[in-house]
Amino acid sequence: MFDQAETLRRLMDEQSQRGEPTPVLKEGGSPSIPRVIAVSGGKGGVGKTLLTANLGLACADLGQRVLLIDGDLGLSNLDVVLNLKTRGSLDNVLAGECRLSDIIVQVSSGLDIIPASSGYLRVPELTRIHKLMLLDQIDELNVQYDLVLIDTAAGVSRTVQYWAASAAEVVIVVTPEPTSLADGYATMKILRETTQETRFGLIVNMAQNQEEALHVYERFSSVSEEFLGVHVSFIGTVPSDNCAKMSVMHRTPLVKSFPFSNAAKGVGQIAAYLQDKSDTANAKGTVQFFWKRMVNYGYSEVTC
Ligand SMILES: Nc1ncnc2c1ncn2[C@@H]1O[C@H](COP(=O)(O)OP(=O)(O)OP(=O)(O)O)[C@@H](O)[C@H]1O
Ligand SMILES: [Mg+2]
Repeated sequence: MFDQAETLRRLMDEQSQRGEPTPVLKEGGSPSIPRVIAVSGGKGGVGKTLLTANLGLACADLGQRVLLIDGDLGLSNLDVVLNLKTRGSLDNVLAGECRLSDIIVQVSSGLDIIPASSGYLRVPELTRIHKLMLLDQIDELNVQYDLVLIDTAAGVSRTVQYWAASAAEVVIVVTPEPTSLADGYATMKILRETTQETRFGLIVNMAQNQEEALHVYERFSSVSEEFLGVHVSFIGTVPSDNCAKMSVMHRTPLVKSFPFSNAAKGVGQIAAYLQDKSDTANAKGTVQFFWKRMVNYGYSEVTC
């Protein structure tokens, strides 16, 4: 049977021999390993932000300690969906105006967020200097998380690739529309090439029913397997539901404002699935370790 702790210890020994950062051991000696998932999808407006925010809340309600990262630098709106007052953003950190630990906001018990800025884009892509600045502050993040969810921007910019490469898992959000499926597939193809990731998850959002969602998944996964050699797991589906739209209009998260709606039930099922599968996650270390991976990704290719 797969012994995750033993495997991690072996990996940590190997990493430390190579001089690479290693996960911190929690009290009692077992490694603290958050599951890090980048939520991506190529096309805009497919529900990445709405799902990330509500999955964060639903997973925290199940007892997980969750960190949300708004990876949509410049056009962030995770804070809008969660109706939060922020006191700074990643943009301020990257501009040297405050530290990473200053901008983390507690959304509710068990749920924190690192917000991004909206309306201006001083930092369109992370340069070497930005990465070094982040690296300098990463060790201050000493909160332990079980799950980190990263809401990424539409498209496949270099920043989206950083997030995807640093996360242990990439979940693609699609709707049944052909344009969304084409963009989701193209995103996976590019991420496959740039990050060498060969396993992805799929969430079908705004489906009319389960049958439609499964049909979408089957088509998507068989094409991906055949033409990209990529394995796609079905993470779940959230139906098209007016309550989702209303929750955004009212700026009260769906799982709080309409907990019995079909969309909130879909989110709840995905949260339960993520919790069930959490010990089979492809762990890649602590939050610090994850950030360091992100900062180091593509280090040599990016000039300042
Ligand atoms: N399951 C759903 N049913 C009905 N409407 C939905 C559903 N999910 C999302 N929406 C609607 O889609 C809108 C866009 O969602 P969201 O902002 O999460 O998309 P996104 O993928 O993050 O977009 P972007 O790429 O521009 O950041 C929401 O404001 C909401 O009105
Ligand atoms: Mg978004």
